[in-house]
Amino acid sequence: MDYCAQDIAEVLVSSEQISQRISQLAEQIIADYRDKELIIVGILTGSFVFLADLLRKLDLPCVVDFIAADSYGTDTTSAGQIHIEKDLSMAVEGRDVLIVEDIIDTGLTLSRLVPMLRDRGAASVKTCCLLDKPSRRQVTVQLDYVGFQIPDQFVVGYGLDFAHHYRNLPQVVVLKPESYATVPDPQ
Ligand code: IMP
Repeated sequence: MDYCAQDIAEVLVSSEQISQRISQLAEQIIADYRDKELIIVGILTGSFVFLADLLRKLDLPCVVDFIAADSYGTDTTSAGQIHIEKDLSMAVEGRDVLIVEDIIDTGLTLSRLVPMLRDRGAASVKTCCLLDKPSRRQVTVQLDYVGFQIPDQFVVGYGLDFAHHYRNLPQVVVLKPESYATVPDPQ
């Protein structure tokens, strides 16, 4: 994208790499869920681009719902707090759930969301993330499908944002340090 080419320090994952990896993940998911109907739960907002591309490769019966959730508090165990800003509109009871997330960082959000959906009676809960930053983990999380492991760098693009910007980039990039100062605050 030309409008912000000068802001980019490095392309970490190209759009070609993303597309290839999504095809592989979709094949794995299709094999694992043969003869089942999935409820795909996207965590807002960052997952929407990944989810849209993954979904169109999933040759399976499935429905899609979204949840906006934040973990908070200093308690780094899975028993900590989760704040649901926007809940699911569908019931998960008795259904096979696949949570789709953009990036796993501390792991806190996912570590609290998975038990919550199990408590609601989901038949199974699995997780799929595009990016994983294992060096940042504060709590153990179950990751069933992972696109790419990346180093401890803040990344944007392909749905991931800085101050709500850069979600439209087709690849995952690291910004130049000076770019952060020039991003307008949309609030
Ligand atoms: P955690 O795993 O609970 O710490 O939260 C993961 C969430 O933190 C993701 O869904 C993103 O919203 C955000 N996040 C973590 N690392 C990054 C990054 O490098 N770029 C953009 N958002 C990030």
